[in-house]
Amino acid sequence: MRMAKKLFFGNYKGGVGKTTSVFQIATWMATKGRRVLLLDLDPQCSLSSLCTKNQIHNYTYNSVLNYAIELYCRFINNNVNDFDLYTMNIQNQQKYIKNIIRNLKNNLDYIPSSFKFKNARLNDLASKMSKNVFSICIIPLLIRDLELEQYDYILFDCPPTSNTLIHSVFMASDYYIIPTIGDNISGHGVPDYITEIENVYVKYAMNDEIGGLMLTSLFGEKPLFIGVFETIYKDRRGTGNINLIKDLDLAIDKLNIPSLLSDAKYGKFRYNKQNSTIETKHIFQNYTRHLVDIVQNTEITVGNHPEYEEITDQIITITS
Ligand SMILES: Nc1ncnc2c1ncn2[C@@H]1O[C@H](COP(=O)(O)OP(=O)(O)OP(=O)(O)O)[C@@H](O)[C@H]1O
Ligand SMILES: [Mg+2]
Repeated sequence: MRMAKKLFFGNYKGGVGKTTSVFQIATWMATKGRRVLLLDLDPQCSLSSLCTKNQIHNYTYNSVLNYAIELYCRFINNNVNDFDLYTMNIQNQQKYIKNIIRNLKNNLDYIPSSFKFKNARLNDLASKMSKNVFSICIIPLLIRDLELEQYDYILFDCPPTSNTLIHSVFMASDYYIIPTIGDNISGHGVPDYITEIENVYVKYAMNDEIGGLMLTSLFGEKPLFIGVFETIYKDRRGTGNINLIKDLDLAIDKLNIPSLLSDAKYGKFRYNKQNSTIETKHIFQNYTRHLVDIVQNTEITVGNHPEYEEITDQIITITS
């Protein structure tokens, strides 16, 4: 069976274009013939608003991601022992969750989230999950059950916060990418985020109830860092933010966590001496800056913004 590639987009800094990037890259992937599923993990539900053109409030309780998470949470609390998890002898729940997948356009499906259910918003569900360490398996189980649908890519839009639900997404993913703006704060915020992802993996690997072998059987390898993608680029200093980008790259390099982008074969995707005054190892040369406020502008949401085409091709190449 073909396995979907799972990518999450995250950064603890808010408003850096995470949701916009996930949405644009998904629509471009779909245009290029990849079957894509989008999941919205942010309690603010911005991606769901984009996908549903602000009609999310019309959705019934059993047609949103919140429902699936609560269902798996209850299932794990009531029925599952660690032996069954270890051996993945877990009943498939697909029949209960088939209402949650919606189609946006050709090749592109999404699972909306909602904030209208009291005590069942994504952050409420994350705090319920935190009471049982095995809840970390919720996203991998959900994905396993959804994978029957045969997607090429599953893209997760993460909030600028961390909780057990987000840890479950980290653990279930194959890759991650960090959208950022090139400002002073990102110089330490981005390395800090990468470190946090490593720490989450170590936290569960070292947990006596989950541990190394079970962790690997459930989640496979830890997610690979693709690289950093600059968004909402503004020419802040006349000649641009090039020094900040260089400093950010050096700070990432010091972590000794290699990005896929740093591989020699992707040299042309990074800032490089041929086209720029700097070279980097971990930062895409591509950046976006011309988007109008697309969260508000539904006309753009149905189309693809041209600035996102190249980065989509590059991500497809790197993850192939
Ligand atoms: N490349 C861009 N150029 C100009 N404006 C952009 C660009 N990308 C996003 N924006 C705008 O910036 C704002 C924040 O974008 P977005 O919601 O994607 O960020 P976010 O990182 O997902 O935020 P949050 O942390 O709240 O989830 C939005 O109004 C969006 O339309
Ligand atoms: Mg967002």
